Amino acid sequence: MNQDIEKVLITKDNIQQKCQEIGEGLTKEYMDKFPLAIGVLKGAMPFMSDVLRYVDTYIEMDFMDVSSYGGEMKSSGEVKIVKDLDTKVEGRDIIILEDIIDSGLTLSYLVDLFKYRKAKSIKIVTLLDKPEGRTVDIKADIVGFQVPNEFVVGYGLDYQEKYRNLPYIGVLKPRVYKGEE
Ligand code: XMP
Ligand code: MG
Repeated sequence: MNQDIEKVLITKDNIQQKCQEIGEGLTKEYMDKFPLAIGVLKGAMPFMSDVLRYVDTYIEMDFMDVSSYGGEMKSSGEVKIVKDLDTKVEGRDIIILEDIIDSGLTLSYLVDLFKYRKAKSIKIVTLLDKPEGRTVDIKADIVGFQVPNEFVVGYGLDYQEKYRNLPYIGVLKPRVYKGEE
């Protein structure tokens, strides 16, 4: 285990099993369609990659990178598009893949955007849900795991751009935040 991790909340095996379950479910649901899977960078990358390996039907992939305007203004709900889609959304069945829903601001922005762009349907799939963090009313259609109101890292989620590569979800040791060696 990584030396900065205090405890593992969700193991690699549990995550992989969940990805299989979600991917197989999407296969059934979209069997006669050609959905557009949209990964929210960078956090959703490992999750999207693993889920889509279990989707056994036609599916297109694209990516979007969004960020909140500065840490302080996050609660304002102002989201900036860093990288937009290459694909037209109009008339498409959209599957949004996210790492975590916390306040819900990022996702509610994306859902509004894809509605405005005339998506035919929008499904929200998130690996993690932190219901206690919610400030706007938004619910995922598919949730991998609920997590408590703690800062979590691993499997796409970072602290200062580290730990995204870990195959599990964990909580950092306090000394990492305090910046001790
Ligand atoms: P909102 O609040 O818009 O935020 O739902 C979603 C984004 O915030 C980040 N986030 C976290 N990142 N550990 C992280 O590494 C966490 O516990 C955490 N909570 C929120 C993340 O980028 C997510 O997409
Ligand atoms: Mg994110």
